[in-house]
Amino acid sequence: MILMTGATGLSGSLIVEEFARRGVPVRALVRDPRRAGHLSELAGVEWVQGDMLRPESLHEAFKDVERVLLISSARERMVETQQTFIDAARAAGVPHVVKLSGKEAGIGFDADRFRGTREHLDIERYLERSGVAWTHLRPSQFMQLYLPGGNFGVDPVRHELRLPIGSTRLSPIDIEDVAKIAVAVMTSSGHEGAVYEMSGPEALSMKEVVERVSDATGVRYSYVEVSRAEKVAEYRELGLPDVGVQILDELLAERSRHTDSHIWLDAHRAFGVPPTSFAEFANRHAAALLGQP
Ligand SMILES: NC(=O)c1ccc[n+]([C@@H]2O[C@H](COP(=O)([O-])OP(=O)(O)OC[C@H]3O[C@@H](n4cnc5c(N)ncnc54)[C@H](OP(=O)(O)O)[C@@H]3O)[C@@H](O)[C@H]2O)c1
Repeated sequence: MILMTGATGLSGSLIVEEFARRGVPVRALVRDPRRAGHLSELAGVEWVQGDMLRPESLHEAFKDVERVLLISSARERMVETQQTFIDAARAAGVPHVVKLSGKEAGIGFDADRFRGTREHLDIERYLERSGVAWTHLRPSQFMQLYLPGGNFGVDPVRHELRLPIGSTRLSPIDIEDVAKIAVAVMTSSGHEGAVYEMSGPEALSMKEVVERVSDATGVRYSYVEVSRAEKVAEYRELGLPDVGVQILDELLAERSRHTDSHIWLDAHRAFGVPPTSFAEFANRHAAALLGQP
């Protein structure tokens, strides 16, 4: 049996759908049953209640599990949550944990200055030393963050993308690509000790991003350069918790210091997943980019 965590979140909800599409049975760990509604409607998906921070709540989840896909939020005690969960998995005799990690695609990106990268590296090292077989999936920034409401989201009313990163080029990846690669890793053998870096197929400036959004929606969007302080104020207005705002502020500072991005497509090639371009992503999400349901 495959167990996955984080199936009610941004990336996990698309990954669990990919399991269902592929007809691969999967068990999802759910902290709050009120958030499990859509999981019950997916073929082959069963869910169990449990909290990654409470090992005593995980016995049922670990029953007969051969491989775990480990996902939790970067904004919520990620190191403690994932390390506690790894300890519980080892104690339950789980043979293999695949961690959805993160990779800042910025060339020269400094892990010491951005806690998201630093925390993922700490958890990766902890997992490697745990005695459980491990695999790391390291996607770059998700394209889905450019949808309205995302951390890099376009404003569908003003038709703007407002960020403080100048001409920095980023190489975001569609979570649907990550999902296909993750399900391939979870359902085939030989990935113990492997690290899979992955990004989208192009490094784009934010001006190029809004060009693609404009082409897809038929509405002219513009890139508006704002100061970091202004952007932080916008994040606060959206109601993001302090820790989330601090992580984003660090991220924006690093993005401005490292103005180009790598492209990693080896995992796409290895698992036969065609890399989704930002234009294809924008076409698929044209209505959402316009703020329509
Ligand atoms: N954003 C990006 O561009 C990007 C790029 C690369 C990698 N990543 C990494 O991808 C990972 C997932 O990010 P995401 O945005 O998909 O996460 P997310 O939307 O915040 O979802 C987090 C998931 O973890 C669950 N969770 C958190 N704490 C839990 C606990 N104690 N017990 C059980 N479940 C718990 C949440 O459950 P609830 O529904 O109950 O809250 C939710 O399902 C993060 O580690 C992030 O660093 C992100």
